[in-house]
Amino acid sequence: MDSLIIEGPSKLSGIVDVSGSKNSALPLLFASILFDEKVTYENIPRLWDIESTLSLLRIMGCETEWDKESGRVSVFPSITQKEAPYEQVKKMRAGILALGPLVAKYGEAKVSLPGGCAIGARPVNYHIEALKKMGVTVEVEEGYIHATVKNKLVGAEIFFPEVTVTGTENLLYVAVMAEGTTLLQNAACEPEVVALGEFLKSCGAKISGLGTQTVTIQGSKLKSPAKPIAIPPDRIEAGTWISISLATRCPLELNHCDSSQMTSVLSAFRKMGAKIEELNQGTILKITPADKYLPLHIETAPYPGFPTDMQAQILTLLCLAEGRSTVVESIFENRFMHVAELQRLGAKIEVNGSIASIEGPIKFQGAPIMATDLRASACLVLAGLISKGTTRVSRIYHLDRGYQRLDEKLRRLGAKITRVAE
Ligand code: EPZ
Repeated sequence: MDSLIIEGPSKLSGIVDVSGSKNSALPLLFASILFDEKVTYENIPRLWDIESTLSLLRIMGCETEWDKESGRVSVFPSITQKEAPYEQVKKMRAGILALGPLVAKYGEAKVSLPGGCAIGARPVNYHIEALKKMGVTVEVEEGYIHATVKNKLVGAEIFFPEVTVTGTENLLYVAVMAEGTTLLQNAACEPEVVALGEFLKSCGAKISGLGTQTVTIQGSKLKSPAKPIAIPPDRIEAGTWISISLATRCPLELNHCDSSQMTSVLSAFRKMGAKIEELNQGTILKITPADKYLPLHIETAPYPGFPTDMQAQILTLLCLAEGRSTVVESIFENRFMHVAELQRLGAKIEVNGSIASIEGPIKFQGAPIMATDLRASACLVLAGLISKGTTRVSRIYHLDRGYQRLDEKLRRLGAKITRVAE
């Protein structure tokens, strides 16, 4: 397992190229299962989760090619086994996204229950209940979901009790191939869901309401994609870079963004006192830090609310604000594990259930700390950059799952950060 050694405080300057979105690439890669011909992708980020997804597709019989330099990937969906095994799905929960396409295309699937992860139990009951309504027989035995279409897939009226991103994505795959009309209510509005839906529409799917809580799908025949699919920019990586710029008080410029997907995040940073200019139709963000930051009350929520995947990053930044801030984590039941690590660096944070109270401003002191999950690891790197002295962040495989070589990008900006094998 690797660690990162960071000498702080770091001075950064320059331009960052934001990579393709992990949470957009994963559902689009699994969508290849719906077709009979090769599907090609561009701007795929170099991440462990992409490696895991391609490895899972190969286990199911697909042929894959990945040019890591250009970000070009092709998948030939020659499925021979309709099973997503535990060994793969335990490494990456998004393996649950094999369920919908296999059921839609082949009428059968055996997919490992993803199991929980550090941030929560992460059940998939909403996926299963919705599939049952569409004519799928689902049994859960020995840690696996066994799904079979005994007769045919039929459109249905589905209501999700809670907004679920991958649940909405799994049902989109199935609904586009079902007979009749499907209504998804309380559907996720995340840009990653919209990107999947727009791709399916480009292949002939009849979908309306994408990006709203009510999505209507008319089952139809899909045709193979005519051209490569370009993965949209990663709004969470872009938000992470803004928090790095503001925390280090170093102006940065971000390329390959889409600011239209970041309204709640930009609004929060601007309320703290940051100046963020949206240039070139929002594809370039120019970040100017402030001398003093105002405290905030933040509540995470489904899109377009403040994203839970940005909670750890803004919580770290709020340690520098002048006064008391509060952060409410409304999506996951255990997503404050980074707090104990930040306290080792001197943060003054109290957690009571889903509410974290943060006193600022504080001065971080470097110390050994440990990453616990993907987004928490990014906030710990951020904290190391502004700590006085040496910070060692261990278990950064979490970071590599979701950020394309963040340490290399930081080094190019002037950070004193090295990767060591442990
Ligand atoms: C997606 O996870 C993202 N992952 C997560 O990003 C993100 O944090 C999350 O959405 C919320 O935005 C991918 O897109 C691959 P949910 P997902 O289903 O779909 C409960 C990252 O850092 N729920 O929207 O698994 C669930 O427990 C990752 O990139 C059920 O109870 O999340 C949670 O409390 C972390 N039953 C809430 O709903 C279900 O069947 C939202 O979960 C499904 C969900």
